[in-house]
Amino acid sequence: MRAVELFCGAGGMSRGLIDAGIDVVRAYDAWPVAVENYRANIGPHAEVADLKNLLSIIPEISLLKPDLICGGPPCQDYSLAGRREEGENASLTVAFAIAITAVRPRWFMMENVAQASRSKAWADARNMLKRAGYGLSESTLTASRYGVPQDRKRFFCIGRLGERDGFLLSAVANAASSEPMTLRDFFGSAVADTVYFPARSSARRSVWSSDEPAPTIRERSIRPIPESFQPHLADAALLENGYVFSRPVRGGRGVRTVDEPFPTVTRTSWERPGPKYLNDPHPRDPAPAASTAALTREQASRIQGFPSDWRWIAKTQRDILQMIANAVPAPVAKALGEVILARHHGYTAPAIEGRFLDWLECRGRKRATARNVKANVNRARRLLGGRSFAEIAMELAALEAASGFHYLSKGTRSDLRQALMLHAEFEASKTTRAKRSKTTVAAAVPVEIISDAELAKAA
Ligand SMILES: C[S@@+](CC[C@H](N)C(=O)[O-])C[C@H]1O[C@@H](n2cnc3c(N)ncnc32)[C@H](O)[C@@H]1O
Repeated sequence: MRAVELFCGAGGMSRGLIDAGIDVVRAYDAWPVAVENYRANIGPHAEVADLKNLLSIIPEISLLKPDLICGGPPCQDYSLAGRREEGENASLTVAFAIAITAVRPRWFMMENVAQASRSKAWADARNMLKRAGYGLSESTLTASRYGVPQDRKRFFCIGRLGERDGFLLSAVANAASSEPMTLRDFFGSAVADTVYFPARSSARRSVWSSDEPAPTIRERSIRPIPESFQPHLADAALLENGYVFSRPVRGGRGVRTVDEPFPTVTRTSWERPGPKYLNDPHPRDPAPAASTAALTREQASRIQGFPSDWRWIAKTQRDILQMIANAVPAPVAKALGEVILARHHGYTAPAIEGRFLDWLECRGRKRATARNVKANVNRARRLLGGRSFAEIAMELAALEAASGFHYLSKGTRSDLRQALMLHAEFEASKTTRAKRSKTTVAAAVPVEIISDAELAKAA
């Protein structure tokens, strides 16, 4: 699968997609510093480009024939840390949709802050993508369920041409871990999975992750880890301290224990608590803020999913922290890349969501027959290579053309067609019911005008 990334930043999303096995052939960003870091760590295929200039970019992307276009358009207009007025940055979400509708890759993936899903820009972009024939799978994911110890919540929309909306939701949910990853899980296991190369001086580290290049091997290098050995100092200090401070963005808790995920990494996450916070700490802080550890830049980079051998290049610390905070954690992108690839190759199929069996029973089927219908939907989906078409006519046509379908008996072929038609009817009834209940709620609840002050109080 060939991918092009828009708004690539320093390359968090690309790193994860490449780790999943996707070939990222071109990446664009307007910020030269981010592109320099991308090139230094990922490859030379990143270019500086202002993506507002769609007229010059779209023909170039079309020639690359990507199967997937991905990207996280800038989020300052929506994010809690930003001003929340939709302006030029929000219009780049629309630019992203224009690029997709013009190039028409089979797949796309967009990432943004959770609030973006309720923005006008996304409503406009979404309409364009729907009209262009994409089925959309929209979910807000927590990074700590996808391989990093961070409570970061982000909106992801994955689209595929011709699909039914929600086609990938079950697969994305299945890729999540049952428990969130904590700081201790992350730094603890990183320390265990290491190679010991005794350093020449105590100021240097002696433990190297098995995922990074080893230091120069010298004759004294190959030795077992002595019992007296202390793990990487900064990680050990964090774990021993037990509590870590992260400057709260909006009146939340500043102090976390290392047995929970870190909050969303921002440009200021590693600041020590200031007098304002120390004088008025959050009532649910599990320890006094003054006694906590602060993340090192290296730790922040790692819990944002960058490998420990990642080389940050910039004139200012601020730029590095901005690139770290902007990124999609690579393990999250990897998990989603794997989900996309598995569906692309037909290894997974959408789960049948909702009360399909009950719905069939209401239509006079016995439970055992209803179960057979459900099994036949799943069998048809496997023949369709995991696809679920928005139009039932397309679905039936694809089934006729599916390899193996014509070897089945006439009765089985008819059962599979029938099952898909019933399931499509069930899906349509869910949409009608949802629309009806929205109308009923809107009609039943009197419109109330709430002042900003009341809203803030309620929040
Ligand atoms: C949220 S960050 C993307 C981070 C990236 N997905 C990652 O995983 O590292 C958004 C990026 O959009 C870039 N950007 C902002 N305006 C742009 C424009 N007009 N054209 C191209 N890139 C732009 C910013 O420089 C920033 O790197």
